[in-house]
Parts: sequence; C-alpha cells; structure tokens
Amino acid sequence: MAQTTRIAVTPGDGIGPEVVGEAIRCLETLRTKHNLSLEWNEFPWPSHAWHQAHGESMPADALAQLKAYDAILLGALGDPGPLEDPNRYLLTDSVSLAPLLEMRKGFDQWVCERPARLLPGARQYLADERAKDIDMLVIRENSEGEYVSQGGRLRQGTEDEIATQMEVFTRKATNRIIRYGFEQARTQAAERAKEGRTREFRTLDGSTCESQVCLITKRNALRYWGDMYTEAFEEISKEYPDVATHHELVDAACMKFVQAPWAFDVVVASNLQGDILTDLAAVLSGGMGVAPSCNLNPTDPDMPSMFEPTHGSAPDIAGKGLADPTAMLFTAARMLEWFGRKDPVMAVAGKELFDAVAADLAENAGARRGTKEIGEAICQRLSA
Ligand code: IPM
Ligand code: MN
Repeated sequence: MAQTTRIAVTPGDGIGPEVVGEAIRCLETLRTKHNLSLEWNEFPWPSHAWHQAHGESMPADALAQLKAYDAILLGALGDPGPLEDPNRYLLTDSVSLAPLLEMRKGFDQWVCERPARLLPGARQYLADERAKDIDMLVIRENSEGEYVSQGGRLRQGTEDEIATQMEVFTRKATNRIIRYGFEQARTQAAERAKEGRTREFRTLDGSTCESQVCLITKRNALRYWGDMYTEAFEEISKEYPDVATHHELVDAACMKFVQAPWAFDVVVASNLQGDILTDLAAVLSGGMGVAPSCNLNPTDPDMPSMFEPTHGSAPDIAGKGLADPTAMLFTAARMLEWFGRKDPVMAVAGKELFDAVAADLAENAGARRGTKEIGEAICQRLSA
C-alpha cells in the first residue's frame, strides 16, 4: 500500500467549517470506496476564535506543525459573521488573512492555479451563447511580485506622510511560473483530447495549436518587470512550438475576459494582477460558489501545498447552513488529483469527485439547497 498521505484540515472562519464539513464527508466516502491511504487532522487555527482565546491567529509554531503534512485543506479566513451581531469578535482583514499569505510564502507555494470553466448548471452571467465554451486556467504567480510586503510609512500621521510598497520580480520566479504555464497548456490539451474535446488557437504565422498561453502584464507602464516577463516568455515559448502564445495588457485583458473569454486557455499573470483577474474569471465561470483554487509547490515535495476555494468567509450567510460547498468540493477534487502524482488511485478518486460535483451541478442548476443537502447528494452519487 502507498505511504499514507496526510492532510491538515484548517476550516477557519465563517462558512469555512460548514463547507469543509462536506469536503470531509466526501473524502471519507472516497477513502472507504477506494481504500485510500489518506488521513487528516483538523486544526482550530488559524481563526478568529483562536485569536480571541490566544491573542494570535495561530500558534507561533503553526508552520512547523503544518509542514509535517502533505497538504492543507483550508475553508476560509475573514469576518466570521454573523453580520447581524455588531459585537462579534472582529479582526482587521490584514490580520485575519495574514496566515494565508504566511503559508503561501513559508511553503513557497509559488503557483496559484485557478481554473475557470463554465460547467453545465453553473450560473451563466454572460448573455452570449459562446460563454458555454469558457475554459480557462489562470496561473497566478504566488511567491513575489506585488505581494512581497516590503515598504513602509514615513512621517506617519502627518501631512507629509509617505507610504512605499515595493514590488519584486526575480528572473527565477518569472521563468518557473511561465514554464509551468506552458506545461499546463500541454496537459490541458491532452486532457481535452482524452475527453474528445478540441480547441483551436491561432499562432502568429497563421497555423493553429490545440492550446495557448496568454501572458498578462502592464508592460506599457510597469516596464521593468513587464519587459523581463516578455523576454522570458519569448525564450521559454521556443521550447513549446505546439502551444500558441499571446500577450495582453491587464486592462485590456479585463475587457476581453468579458467580451470574449472563450478565446483564452492558460493565462499567466503576476500575483496582484492574477488576484484581480481570478475574481473576474470566477464570475465568468459561475461565481464564487463554484470557483476552486490551489496554492502549489510543484518543486519541493517536502512542502505542503494548500487548497482553498477562491471565496471568502461569507459572514452574511455564516452559520446558517446556506453556503454552497461546490467550490470547496471542486477544490478537494483538485487536491486528490494533486496527490495522484504520487499515488494514481488518488487521481481516480479526484476525477470521481469532480465528476460527481459537476453532475450534481448540472442536475440542480439554480435550485435552492442547503450546504448539507448538496454535500449529501454528492456523497450519494459517489457511493452509487
Ligand atoms: C485570494 C485572496 C487573498 C489574496 C487575500 C485574502 C490576501 O484575495 O486568495 O485571492 O489577495 O491573495
Ligand atoms: Mn483574491
């Protein structure tokens, strides 16, 4: 039997525990069904509740504890709700969400992968019929860029105050994220081919490719990193003649995401620009209720990757059993597929979970259902 894969489950705040509960229920079903060597431990941190009791969002040795696991399955961090309670214990966003950034940084989870595919049954926000073909994979650089948190405030509180916020782009991180984008483009095309789906993307010389990588920058204004990204992209693209290339400026990309999102395949963007683009991409593919997200370290097997839906803690519906666990379940499916790199049966289980969630979505398009009802229906599908 394969070595046991261990998950640190961190439900977090708000709807986090509710949606994580359904993920665990599905994982349990799959573990039994496939005899998966999978184990998990639940942690009460990071969370508002832990902060209220201990004065910090997580213990000082939190990362050391998490490092012993193969992955972290995180629910949500932020305002725990309910909004109706004005006296609830509430931290500022920068404090409550800091653990997320600490994990990404501490475990060098340098890829943030956010697929945006409009599946049958998901809400279609765009009226254009071609929206049904939306199938993007946004790869966000997750280790540096605008998120290095370097800078400071001078003469704070005076009229002469100055705030600086530095952006750092290294050639090493640039190369690895761009190369990862090309690799994913190939993988996506191969997966589509297996399912009998094909897509066509035009190259500059007029030929067509089955996949594409679109690099997004703001190189007309932010020229130093923009130029470095462009050069790295051109160089690395030579190793992938089968993948079409494209570039968009981030402002134009926002416009085109709305105007013709079906024209995109793999998209590579910087940390902040990728953050913004993935909220937009999530809506294009049905909204936050269905958008998965993975923070991956593909290079160091000793570092856990972190799987969390793109959505937040949804304080407006927290504790009411109304949260849609779909995004969390798609995220858990991707986590299993990630484990599949070492243990093929995990990939099978991940695909099954994806298919069950997708089938449930297709069958119940728009129906009002509670968190548990959705989780139960999906588990039944898994055990059928
Ligand atoms: C996300 C979130 C985080 C980010 C916040 C909560 C720090 O928006 O995961 O997209 O900006 O990365
Ligand atoms: Mn975001």
